[in-house]
Amino acid sequence: MDMMKNKNTLLHLLVPVALLAAGAQAAPKKPVKVFILAGQSNMHGHGEIAKGEKGNLEWVVENKPAYQHLAGADGQWTVRNDVFVYSTDKNDKTRTGGLTAGFGALPTTIGPELQFGHAVGDFYDNDVLLIKAAWGGKSLAVDFCPPSAAGEAGYAHIPGAPKDTGFYYVQMLARVHDVLADIGTYVPGYEGQGYEIAGFGWHQGWNDRVSKPFNAAYERNMELFIRDVRRDLGTPNLPFVIATTGMRSMQAKDPRGDALIRAQQAMANVPDFNGNVAVVDTAAFWRDAADSPSKQNYHWNRNAESYLLIGQSMADALIALAQQNPSCAVRGAGKVPGLLAPTPPMGWNSWNAFEKEINEDIIRRTADLMVSTGLRDAGYDFLVIDDAWMANVRDEDGKLIADYEKFPRGMKAVGDYIHSKGLKYGIYQCRGHVTCQDLPGSFEHEEADMQSFADWGVDYIKLDSCYARKNGRLSSEDYAIYGAAIEKTGRPMILSISDFGQGAWIWGGKNYSQLWRTSGDIFPRINSVYRCAETSGGSGSSHPGFNGLWQFAGPGHWNDPDMLQVGNLKDPAYDKVHFSLWCVLAAPLMAGNDLRTMTDPTKQILLAPELIAVNQDPRGQQGYKVYNQDEIEIYNKPLSDGTTAVLLLNKGTNTTDVTVQWSQIGLSGEQPVRDLWERKELGTFTGSFTAEQLAQHGHRFVRVGTPGGAPLPGPVPTPPEKYTVMNKGTTRLADLYYVMKEGQAPTFDNGLRVKSESRVMYRLAGNADRFKASISLDAPSPDDAKGTFIVLVEDKFGGREIFKQEKMAKSDAPVEVDIDVSGLDFIMLEFTGKGAFGHWADARVESGPAAD
Ligand code: GLA
Repeated sequence: MDMMKNKNTLLHLLVPVALLAAGAQAAPKKPVKVFILAGQSNMHGHGEIAKGEKGNLEWVVENKPAYQHLAGADGQWTVRNDVFVYSTDKNDKTRTGGLTAGFGALPTTIGPELQFGHAVGDFYDNDVLLIKAAWGGKSLAVDFCPPSAAGEAGYAHIPGAPKDTGFYYVQMLARVHDVLADIGTYVPGYEGQGYEIAGFGWHQGWNDRVSKPFNAAYERNMELFIRDVRRDLGTPNLPFVIATTGMRSMQAKDPRGDALIRAQQAMANVPDFNGNVAVVDTAAFWRDAADSPSKQNYHWNRNAESYLLIGQSMADALIALAQQNPSCAVRGAGKVPGLLAPTPPMGWNSWNAFEKEINEDIIRRTADLMVSTGLRDAGYDFLVIDDAWMANVRDEDGKLIADYEKFPRGMKAVGDYIHSKGLKYGIYQCRGHVTCQDLPGSFEHEEADMQSFADWGVDYIKLDSCYARKNGRLSSEDYAIYGAAIEKTGRPMILSISDFGQGAWIWGGKNYSQLWRTSGDIFPRINSVYRCAETSGGSGSSHPGFNGLWQFAGPGHWNDPDMLQVGNLKDPAYDKVHFSLWCVLAAPLMAGNDLRTMTDPTKQILLAPELIAVNQDPRGQQGYKVYNQDEIEIYNKPLSDGTTAVLLLNKGTNTTDVTVQWSQIGLSGEQPVRDLWERKELGTFTGSFTAEQLAQHGHRFVRVGTPGGAPLPGPVPTPPEKYTVMNKGTTRLADLYYVMKEGQAPTFDNGLRVKSESRVMYRLAGNADRFKASISLDAPSPDDAKGTFIVLVEDKFGGREIFKQEKMAKSDAPVEVDIDVSGLDFIMLEFTGKGAFGHWADARVESGPAAD
C-alpha cells in the first residue's frame, strides 16, 4: 500500500477539490487503464456486505483500520469517481458505475474487484475501468476452453450455446470488445483519450477438480488460456495474475483440488511467462467459518475480508508486473465521437473469395487468420460477411435468420466469435425486396432488420441495391430510412452504400453513410482494377473536369472503388499496383482473398506498413492525378505530416521513365524521397524525381518531403457553379459538368451523344423548371437497333421515371421532350437498347424568366 498516491478520491473530499480546480486549464486526460477480471464464482464474488455477524463488509470496515476508505464518514459506501466497473451479476443483470460495494455475484455481495479497484485506482492517476467477466460453475476444459486447447485448428464449431466448448471464453472476450468499443458510456467524462489494456486477473473456484480428465488437463489449458487471451486481445505481454483457488480447509481433503492449485502455481515457472505472469498464493486469506458470515467453504465462507485480500494481492501483483513490462499500446485515442470512419475502413469481406459458398468454418478460420497473420494488428479489423448468409425465408415473426446449414448457431454467435478475436463484425443486406442472390432483402423490413443487426452486435452494414428500382423511393430517401433505422437502434454501425456507383457522393450519401461505391463490381483482372480505380481517381464515373472524386471524400466519408482483389490477380506485380492505387485513393481496404491459402508475397503486400500509413493518414485527403497522359499517371496524396505520397504508374505497353516535378506536388528545391514499398530512403533529389524504366503496370510509390513540417496545400475543389444549375434562363447541359456517369462518356456537339447503355446525372438543385431535348437514334446505330430514352429523378435505383420514349428506331423522326423538372435536385438521362447510339440533341434546362 505504500506505493499508493493519495488522490483524494473519496467522493465527499472530491467536491471541494473539483470546485477549486474549476477555471484552471485541465491537462489532457491520460489513457484509461483497463483491467479485466475474469473467472468463475469466486471472481463473481460472494463476500457478504451485511449478512452475518462477523466477517461481512460492514464488520470489516468497523474492525480493520486498513479498510476505512471503503465507507465515508456518513456511513455510506464510498463511490469512486475515477474507477468504473462493468459487471454482470449471477442473474446476468448488467451493473455499471463508479466502484463501490455491491459489484459481486449479487448486489449484496462483493468480489475481488472492490479492493482491486481501490488499489489500482490509487496507484494510477489515469481513470480506471474494470471489466468483470465471470460465470460460476464453469470449467477451463469446456466452458472457458481456449481455442488452441480445443484442437489444432481451434474450435470445431463457433460456440453459440452455453454448453458449447469455448462458449464462455468467447463471451468473456466479446464482452471486453463490446465494452471497449463503447468506452465513453462506461467512463464518464471520457474525452477520447484512448485506453490501454493494463492487466488481466483470473480467480476461480473448485469446479475444475470435479472431472478427472479436466483436472489432468488443467495445467496445459491454463497455459494456453493465457497465450490465447493475449493473442486475441492483441496484447502480447499483457500482465496476467492468477489468484490461486486456495481455500485451506478444502484443500487439505482434496487431492484434485491440490492438483488444481499446483497447476496454477506452475504458470509462474513457464519460461516465457517469467516477469509477465504472477501467481498469488491465497491460502493465508482463508477465514474460518466461525469468523465468517457463512459455512459455504467453496465460496471463502462468504467472508468479505478474504475477497478484499484477494483483490489487493492481485492488484499488487499486476502493478509490479506492469513496472517490468512496457505498457501496451494506447487504443481508440483521438476518435471524434460520432465520426464512425475517421480513416478508410479496413477489413476482409467474403465475397471476392467465396461468393455464396460461405459457412461458419470459413468465417471462423478467417477470423483466426486475421489475427495470426497480423492483418488485424495492421488495421484490418472488420470481418464482413457478404451475401448469402441468410435463410431463404424469414422466421414466423418476419425476422431475418441465418441459413442454419451454413451458420448452425445463428448470426449472433458468429458476431460474438468475431468480437472475441478483437475484430469488428460486418454483415451484408440489400435494400431491394431480395438481395442480389435472390434471398430475403430488407425492403419494408428496414427497422426490424437494423434492430436484428444491432442485437447481433453488428458494427458495419454493407447495404446493396439490387432490385431497389422497384422500391418506389429515391436512393437518397431509401438510405435515409436506413440511416434513421440504424440511429434508432442506438448502436453505432457503419453504413456502406453498395450501388455500383450511382452518385451517392453527390446526392448526399454523406448524410447517412460512411462510404459509397463508385464503381460496378471488381473482378480479378488488372483491367477491372484499373477500371474501378478510374471511377474514384479519374473520369470513370464523373466529368473529367472534376479530376476524380477526391473532393467528395474525407474523414468520415469515403469513395469506395470496391473491395480488394489482392492475392487473386494473375501476377504479384498486379497485386502491388492494385494495392498502391487503393492506398493513394484513400479507398477502403477490404481484403478479398482466401486467407487459408494466402501466400507470403500476398501477405507482404496487404501488410505493407508504409502503404497502409498513407491510406490511413488522418488528414484523409484522397490522392488525385497531377499527370495523366499516354497511359502514364502520377497521383499525389498530401499527408498530415508535411510530406506527400506520390504514385508513378505506367499503364501503357512501352517501357518508359516517369518523372514527377516538385512543382506538380507543391514542393521545390531539394527534397528527400523514400520508397514506400522498399521502406528505404532513396536520397535527396532536386526539382524532380524519376522512376526509371517502368514497364507496363510498373510503378513506384514514394514519399517526398521532410516529415514534421506544415501540411502541403491540397488541390482546389471544383466550384459548385461548374456542376450545378445556378441561373435563371436556359442552361445547356453540354456546358455543365455531369456529376455522375455510367457507361461510355457522352460527347457534346449540340447536345449529348450517348451509347447504350448509359446514364448521366445532372444537378439541378431545384433551380430548373423544364427539361427539353430533341431525341433520336444517332447515326452509328445499326438499322435494326431500338433505343429507349428515359429521364429519371436522381439515380436509376430511385426508379422514378418522368419521361420515357421506348424502342425508337433509326428511321423514327426526332421526338421533342419538354417536361416539368421543377423542384428537382437531380435528373438522370438513361439510354438503353442493344447496340444503339442515341442523341439528346439540344439538351437543356430552363427556368423562370431570365434575370436581366
Ligand atoms: C453485388 C455487390 C457485390 C456483392 C454481391 C453479392 O454485386 O456489388 O459486392 O455484394 O452483390 O450478391
